[in-house]
Amino acid sequence: MTTKAKRWVLASRPEGKPKLDNFRLEDVTLSDIGEHDILIRTEFHSVDPGMRGRLSGDSYTAALPLGETVDSAMIGIVEASNNEKFKVGDRVTGGFGWVSHAVSNGRGVQVLDPAIYHGKLRPSAAIGVLGIPGLTSYFGLLDLGEPKKDDTVLISSAAGPVGATAGQIAKMKGCRVVGIAGSKDKCDYVKSLGFDATINYRDTKDMAAAIKAACPDGVDIYFDNVGGSMLDAAILNMKDHGRIVVSGQVSEYNRGPDELVGIRNVTRFITHKLRMEGLVVFDYFKGFKAAQAEMAGWIHAGELQYTEDISDGIEGSAAAFVGLFEGENHGRRLIKVS
Ligand SMILES: NC(=O)c1ccc[n+]([C@@H]2O[C@H](COP(=O)([O-])OP(=O)(O)OC[C@H]3O[C@@H](n4cnc5c(N)ncnc54)[C@H](OP(=O)(O)O)[C@@H]3O)[C@@H](O)[C@H]2O)c1
Repeated sequence: MTTKAKRWVLASRPEGKPKLDNFRLEDVTLSDIGEHDILIRTEFHSVDPGMRGRLSGDSYTAALPLGETVDSAMIGIVEASNNEKFKVGDRVTGGFGWVSHAVSNGRGVQVLDPAIYHGKLRPSAAIGVLGIPGLTSYFGLLDLGEPKKDDTVLISSAAGPVGATAGQIAKMKGCRVVGIAGSKDKCDYVKSLGFDATINYRDTKDMAAAIKAACPDGVDIYFDNVGGSMLDAAILNMKDHGRIVVSGQVSEYNRGPDELVGIRNVTRFITHKLRMEGLVVFDYFKGFKAAQAEMAGWIHAGELQYTEDISDGIEGSAAAFVGLFEGENHGRRLIKVS
């Protein structure tokens, strides 16, 4: 039996900020599943700022070819199965992109354990706080940031899923945490999560001075999701032996190679013996299960909160992605497909 499905493909390579016409929604017909295959109906898929790099060229993985399905994480229900590891009705997660349905041989697909996903931990969290964003916060902060009690931790894009999770973990480790975000609403949200102070960068003319006012003794860890001039302002406030965790560079993603802002205050790396290190979260794959179990425990205990920004309908996936670069999202942006 065939299945009528929809998928978003890359129609053209964005220049600057992505636009709706860089993407195309296609109707596709999936043929009957083969031996060992499963058919998954998407419940939610994510839209991710980190995908921007692959739309223009090679990133830490190869560029997305034109006409290919746009990548993302998804959660879905198994509708048909010829694979003994999956039964009809299982709720699963995998990386099938902006699609309404997917056929898979089961590789890379995981069944969500109802013993973990219940109560405060909704299944959609598997592609949010317990998925790539939350794991980036966990490993970026704990492994590269090496937080110690009473450290001052500064976080950019603090209201996004990565920033908000990193800030709450830093609070659990006894740090003082300051979040930078792009509106009063987002700053209020971040405060409600327990951050000690916030900076609304859209209301701030001099970021270096604003960081100094919020972190008068300096910054031990800067968890950077944004890059550009905000990173330079943070560097000027780093303490001796400060650590800069390069999680993302969202302010640079839409710039061509000749337009990058980059960093200027490199001398401070010498004078203050700073360390700056980036991560690709997939490198920590072997530790994912243990990290997810620990974070699930925190969520069930009410110690770690998360927010999802869900819009209805696969027709809106491209607009939801484009909006990430306008600061539209309040939390993990997901598309409810069915
Ligand atoms: N290294 C890894 O393995 C890894 C894995 C996953 C994600 N990441 C990165 O982690 C970062 C955070 O990801 P996320 O999923 O939590 O998304 P996110 O922070 O919610 O990203 C979207 C937000 O970025 C901010 N933003 C957009 N353009 C900006 C600009 N020009 N200047 C300053 N802020 C801007 C906006 O918030 P405001 O309204 O506050 O401006 C917007 O709502 C991203 O850079 C992502 O690429 C890295």
